Amino acid sequence: MNREYIETVQAVAGAAGSVWLAADAAEHPTLDGDHTADVLVVGAGITGALVARKLAGTGRRVILLDRRRIASGTTGHSTAKVTALHGNSWRDLLRNHADGEVRSWALANLAAVDELATIAAALGFEDLRRVPASLVAGDDATSAAFDEQLAALVSAGLPATASMAPLPFDRPAATVASQVLIDPGAFVVAVIAALGSNATVFEGSPVRSLDYHDHGWRATCDHGSVRAPVAIMADHFPVHDTGAFFTRLFPYAHYAVEFVPRETIPDGMWMQFGGEEITLRPTSDSEGTWIAGGKRVRVASGDDEREVYAGLVASVVAVVGECEVTRHWSAHDHETPDGLPFIGEAPLGRNLYMAAGYAGWGMTKSVVASAIITDAVEGRAHPLAETVSPSRAPGPGSAGSLIEENAIVGREFIGGHLTSRNDKVHEDSVAGRTCTHLGCGTKWNTAEGTVDCSCHGSRFGRHGDVIYGPAAKDIETK
Ligand code: FES
Repeated sequence: MNREYIETVQAVAGAAGSVWLAADAAEHPTLDGDHTADVLVVGAGITGALVARKLAGTGRRVILLDRRRIASGTTGHSTAKVTALHGNSWRDLLRNHADGEVRSWALANLAAVDELATIAAALGFEDLRRVPASLVAGDDATSAAFDEQLAALVSAGLPATASMAPLPFDRPAATVASQVLIDPGAFVVAVIAALGSNATVFEGSPVRSLDYHDHGWRATCDHGSVRAPVAIMADHFPVHDTGAFFTRLFPYAHYAVEFVPRETIPDGMWMQFGGEEITLRPTSDSEGTWIAGGKRVRVASGDDEREVYAGLVASVVAVVGECEVTRHWSAHDHETPDGLPFIGEAPLGRNLYMAAGYAGWGMTKSVVASAIITDAVEGRAHPLAETVSPSRAPGPGSAGSLIEENAIVGREFIGGHLTSRNDKVHEDSVAGRTCTHLGCGTKWNTAEGTVDCSCHGSRFGRHGDVIYGPAAKDIETK
C-alpha cells in the first residue's frame, strides 16, 4: 500500500480496514477442475451463507464460490445493525408503494431480526447482543417534522415508540426495542463452518462468466468450473446480468469510522435523520469503542475520498464531542429506483436467482432473501415474491432516480472517454485505464487505494483485480 496514502488517511481517521475482518475464517481451497452440484451459490457473504444453509439443509449438494475470502465484501464492511428500523427509508417506501406491500416487507424484516438471532443461538454463536434501535432527529427542522417519521414507522407496522433521546442527542426519537448487534464477519464464518458435508466452499475463485449450457448453469473461474441446474447470484451485483441491472442498481459507498468517545454515549443503535446524518453503534459490549456510519456517497463521484472521512470525523465530533478515531473503512452497496431490493428469480428464469440492491440494510434483507429464494427453488410461493421480484415493472416513483442516475452514467461515459480520467491517475496502478464492464474511465480512490469506475461502480485493486462488479474481468496491467 502506498505510504503517502497510509499516512494521510491515518492522520484523518485511524488505521485502514474493517474491524470485523480480523475474524478467523477457515481457509477454503481455490476452485480447481470441473465440479458439479445441485445448487451453485455465487458470493459467500451473509446472503450466500444463509441461502446455502437453507438449501444444504434440504439435502441438496451446494457449492459456494467467493472471489476473495468469505464475508470479505459488503458483509464484512457493514456496520451490522440488525434492525428493521432502516433509517428514514420507510417514509419514502410508503410514498412509492402500496401500504400493504410496505407493511408486509417491514414485518418480514422485523421477523428477520429474530430469525438471525435464532440461527446464531442454534450455532452456539454468542457474539450477539439485543439493544434498542432509535431513529433520532438531527436538527430543528427534522425535530419539527418528527411526527411524520413516527407515523411512517407506525404505518409500516413497526412497533416504534416515541421519546426524547438522552444526551448527546437531546432530540425526539422513535425506538424499536430488542434489535440485534453482531460481528457480521464472525457470524458468516460460523454459518459456513456449520454447513456440513452437503456444502463445499471455494475462496479466491472469482466467477468470470455464468452461462446456461446443457440444461444447467456453468460458472467458469480461472482454474475450474461448476455446473448446477440451479444458480443463485448472491454476489452484490449479479455476475450474469439478465435484466440490464447496471441501469437499475446505483452504486453507493457507506463510510464508517471506529472511535473511542470521551463522553458516554447511551447504549443502542442511533440513526440520525437530518443534521449530521450519522449512525452510531457500540462495537461490542466490552471494548468501549463505537462505530459511526456517515452519509452515502456515489462511488467515484468525488476527487478526493479522504475528504469524506474527514467530513465524517467532523460530524462525529459535532454529535458526540471529542474522540479518538481508531479505524476507518467503507461498505459498497446498491440502491434501486423504487427503494425495494431485487430478490428472486432473475429475468429469463431457468432456475437462475439473484439478490441485490439492499441499500445499506443487508443484515435483515439477506435473511428475507434467503427465505424467498429457498421457497422459489423449492417451488413454494413466498408472500413477498412479487413485491421484490427482479422482473417487476418500475413504479411511478422510480422515474426520477432512473433519469438522474443514468444521466450521471452518460456524463461519466463521455467524460471518461474524453479524458481517460487522467487527472485521477495514480502511479503504479491501473487508474485511468478503461473499465472492463462497459468501457468507462476509471480513477484512483485516494482513501481506499482502489481503482473505481463511476458509471456502474465496478472497483478494482491497484493492479486491476476485480473487487466489486459489475465488471467480471480484471483490468490487464499490460
Ligand atoms: Fe460499468 Fe465501469 S462499471 S463501465
